[in-house]
Amino acid sequence: MNELNIIPKPVSAVIEDGSIDLAMLKSIALMHNSDDEKMTAVYLQKLLQPINALPITNFEKNKMDQIVLSIDPKSPLQAEGYQLIIGKDNGAYIKASTSAGLFYGFQTFRQLCPTELEKSVIPKNTEINNCKIIDHPIFGYRGMHLDVSRHFFDINFIKTYIDMIALHKMNVFHWHLTDDNGWRIQINQYPELTEKSAWRVDRRNEPWKEWSPIQPNEKATYGGFYTQDEIRDVIQYAAERSIMVIPEIEMPGHTSEVFAAYPELSCKGEFIPVNPGSYWPNVDIFCAGNDDVFMFLENVLEEVIDLFPGPYIHIGGDEAEKTHWENCPKCQKRIKDEKLRDETELQSWFIKKIEKYILSKNKKLVGWDEILEGGLAKSATVMSWRGMKGGIESAKAGHDVIMCPTSHCYFDYYQANPETSPEAIGGYTTLKKVYSFDPVPLDLSKEDEKFILGAQGNLWTEYVQTPARAQYRVLPRMTALSEVLWSGPGKHSYNNFYRRLSYLEKRFDQLEWSHAPGSFLVSFHTEKVSENKGISVQLTSEKPSETIRFTMDGSDPTIFSSEYTGAFNVNKTTILRAALFINGKLAGQISEKKLLFHKAVGKIIDYKTQYKNKYPGSGSSNLVNGITGSTSFNDGFWQGWERDDLDVVIDLGSETEINQIICGFLESQNSWIFLPTEVKVSFSNNNISYENEKSIAISDGENYGNKNRVEANINDIEQVARFVRITGTNRKICPDWHAGAGGDAWIFADEIIVK
Ligand code: ACM
Ligand code: ZN
Repeated sequence: MNELNIIPKPVSAVIEDGSIDLAMLKSIALMHNSDDEKMTAVYLQKLLQPINALPITNFEKNKMDQIVLSIDPKSPLQAEGYQLIIGKDNGAYIKASTSAGLFYGFQTFRQLCPTELEKSVIPKNTEINNCKIIDHPIFGYRGMHLDVSRHFFDINFIKTYIDMIALHKMNVFHWHLTDDNGWRIQINQYPELTEKSAWRVDRRNEPWKEWSPIQPNEKATYGGFYTQDEIRDVIQYAAERSIMVIPEIEMPGHTSEVFAAYPELSCKGEFIPVNPGSYWPNVDIFCAGNDDVFMFLENVLEEVIDLFPGPYIHIGGDEAEKTHWENCPKCQKRIKDEKLRDETELQSWFIKKIEKYILSKNKKLVGWDEILEGGLAKSATVMSWRGMKGGIESAKAGHDVIMCPTSHCYFDYYQANPETSPEAIGGYTTLKKVYSFDPVPLDLSKEDEKFILGAQGNLWTEYVQTPARAQYRVLPRMTALSEVLWSGPGKHSYNNFYRRLSYLEKRFDQLEWSHAPGSFLVSFHTEKVSENKGISVQLTSEKPSETIRFTMDGSDPTIFSSEYTGAFNVNKTTILRAALFINGKLAGQISEKKLLFHKAVGKIIDYKTQYKNKYPGSGSSNLVNGITGSTSFNDGFWQGWERDDLDVVIDLGSETEINQIICGFLESQNSWIFLPTEVKVSFSNNNISYENEKSIAISDGENYGNKNRVEANINDIEQVARFVRITGTNRKICPDWHAGAGGDAWIFADEIIVK
């Protein structure tokens, strides 16, 4: 062995000669006999119980065969840091300057121990290698979020989730307690919140986005809530594992469940049943013009603040649908009375009012990045989820920031081929992508960087019906995030991480924690080499230790097909097929790509309208890389434009004869992706004046549920030109018959073929 299999990877770990035998240990010795030392000692005692019932004793000099635990506030070890020495005095030493540090030292010790101990089974091998480890985290905020409104998770699972956080040396549990689909926290002053707002009709057998309407007399049988005693129990459980719990109480939007109990607090004042399907736009929101709303919220927050000892109270603030305020006389009066410009300023006014209350209780307000709109409350901490932009803006203004952009931190997104994965809400965030995350944006100054406290993984549970599914979604993506946050982004290679992960996954198995196998996909990457050599093709997978085999004649790869060992060149239109082979067997599905040779391959594209970062395909070469997409919008080959038209110029490098242009588009209407209504091409030699425009109109009709790749084919072009401009007209909003009527419509394109 030349490396210890620890995640997150320690700052320094030196393997030394020799080993200790856990079976020979005699005691767990406390250096200062403190309660905090004792707490970790009890975890250690329990872990080693199957081998040996170790007594917890006071430290005595010159004794051998003990595990010594020490918390010394005067030690030079960093807060949360620790030193672990295996082999000293035939035993082990774990030293720290804080209780958290000692706990993390224990977590590292645990990962060095045989995995069978997790299941309280006597391991076959009880030796562990001597080593010296010194360790501490890069980021102070290492969080995991869980939405318990969309689906309810009982206290047992909440504790398991906290155990998962602890194993990864993460230190925050963000508990999303309220949302449109169920109120989950007992509030003594408002018993109807848990009598009415916590329950809804049961639609667990239907996909979230297709939940059927509530029938008359249908009973609300699905839901649940936590009593204040249960919440205190969870907070204590978390504290004993150096984990802070941040409660989230949503406002002003994502609150329709409240109006099942207290309709008078909404703008329209109407009863709304807790609706499994209500998602967007929020059916109604808190009326900002009604003083009773603030009385209610302060009373609720008072109980929340009494319960949660940590410094932060999260008040949501995301996705509040402002049309309710636009149409509400009370809200409009408030805007006038407070001399506010518009509804975004009203939102800001709302949040600042709540902030004032939270500050009066000596707590800090946290909110999603929408709280920036209309002016940010002075002391607020911002969770940047709609990309990094809100976080950057906040840090520059001197606010603390927690990064959790959808691109890397939304663990409700797919992590593998959507066609063969349990249904998720969308997106595509693989393990490798999470591992590539850097919470500190490049364009922040050193001064402003310090406001980035860290990051967190978010688990929204629309498509997470059970505890096992929750684990499957976050494991092992939270493992990747934990290493980014503890060991530092970009410090270690994905390949090295992946090797160590296989050991940690054995521990998950012993703990009976469900975890996702990840993506088996073989991906194709192309790069233009030269005019005559063609395209250089690279094959990659997220499983770097496994073999990729491929064919170039359209046949299925088998164990006898060529093994991929490095990039190769292709210089004519070719069908490539590739797959992973694990233990000599095909694993996952065969990937197929046709490499199309056409005149635009490898040429430069100028984007007049920018594709959305969430759906970049392979980036700026996506439309001219010779590769087309499948009918799955998140397969990595599609580039998406939201509301905007597609508008690009291809520079063919020199004047080129053009006869035909074919553009590949995706139709996937229930993902809000439509064909362009019109595709236009025009030509230029100077990139200033364009001429000879040709266009075709597309009428696609209602095609809900079907997914098609459609080629817009413009024939009979007789043109010699260097520059080609291509536009695809976006219908901009979803049509009236569509479930998202009035919402932003998308165009997705994969390739522009020039012949
Ligand atoms: C969020 O995902 N709406 C914060
Ligand atoms: Zn109102």
